[in-house]
Amino acid sequence: MTTVAPKSVDPEVDAIRHHYEVSNDFYRLLLGPTMMYSGGYWQEGEDLVGHLDQAQERKLDTFAALAGVQAGSDAKRVLDIGCGWGTMLNRLTTIHGAEAGVGLTLSRTQKDFITALGNDKITTLVQSWADYQVADESEKYDAAFCINALEHFVSSNLPPKERTKRYRFFFQQVANALKPGAKFVLHTMTAEALPMNRALLDDLKFLQRSEFEGCHIPHLSELSAAAEGLFAVDEIVNERESFAVACRAWLKLLAARRDEAVAMEGEEVVARFERYLDIFAYTLEDKFFNNFRVTITRR
Ligand SMILES: C[S@@+](CC[C@H](N)C(=O)[O-])C[C@H]1O[C@@H](n2cnc3c(N)ncnc32)[C@H](O)[C@@H]1O
Repeated sequence: MTTVAPKSVDPEVDAIRHHYEVSNDFYRLLLGPTMMYSGGYWQEGEDLVGHLDQAQERKLDTFAALAGVQAGSDAKRVLDIGCGWGTMLNRLTTIHGAEAGVGLTLSRTQKDFITALGNDKITTLVQSWADYQVADESEKYDAAFCINALEHFVSSNLPPKERTKRYRFFFQQVANALKPGAKFVLHTMTAEALPMNRALLDDLKFLQRSEFEGCHIPHLSELSAAAEGLFAVDEIVNERESFAVACRAWLKLLAARRDEAVAMEGEEVVARFERYLDIFAYTLEDKFFNNFRVTITRR
């Protein structure tokens, strides 16, 4: 069972912990051994659950290549913003030649999990992207990643103008942490401005008010305006199926071991996860949400 941790002084931090400090055992059951909580790259004919780990590793290796982090390359210092359970950093430092990886997360249980990996090339900071600063030039990174985490970074409670400023601040923070010429690879959901029916409105309210309080899925235009002048765009690809399929795979894993999951976390938590995963799966399948892979270079 998840222990009840003391509340922080920041409601945005508490909103993240509400979701991400459910026990690591529950997340292992849900996500499988790779512990990636984001879209994956399945190939034609592959099985949803049977190929979950390969699909995630294929995604990570593609991201590493896009960022130029490869054995023998000069890219040695890497940053993962919203690093989850450290899988990307572990892969970059054990397979792709990175010598130092720093991960930012707000979840203390994720930090515990990463520490237990015993990889001394990884440093995990329980710190928001908004507060993170490199100490000096020597700490700047050769590459950065943000994989399905930006959706949490800007509060839906802000008025639109303030949200725009906050996205700008996010890209400024990333730019400040990178060396000129370094790549930033981002996977993020975005929302289309489409008409909504009653059922969809109810589901979005559940996402924003109950499960991920204050989470705002941006529009692509908000992001491109925010990055302007700081980064040059290499590539933008809509990979909405990568996240939809992952949600379906996690739902199947959860269904197969539902009793165990309920014994770990209780019926209420399991039902919440089932509902939110189904909402993300169908809204991506219906093309209401996208999942963009954005590769940009620090100017
Ligand atoms: C959906 S998970 C994705 C994790 C990982 N990138 C992956 O693909 O498995 C979102 C991550 O963002 C982190 N996060 C949320 N808000 C954050 C913030 N303000 N600063 C840093 N990390 C944050 C969460 O703690 C979590 O690790």
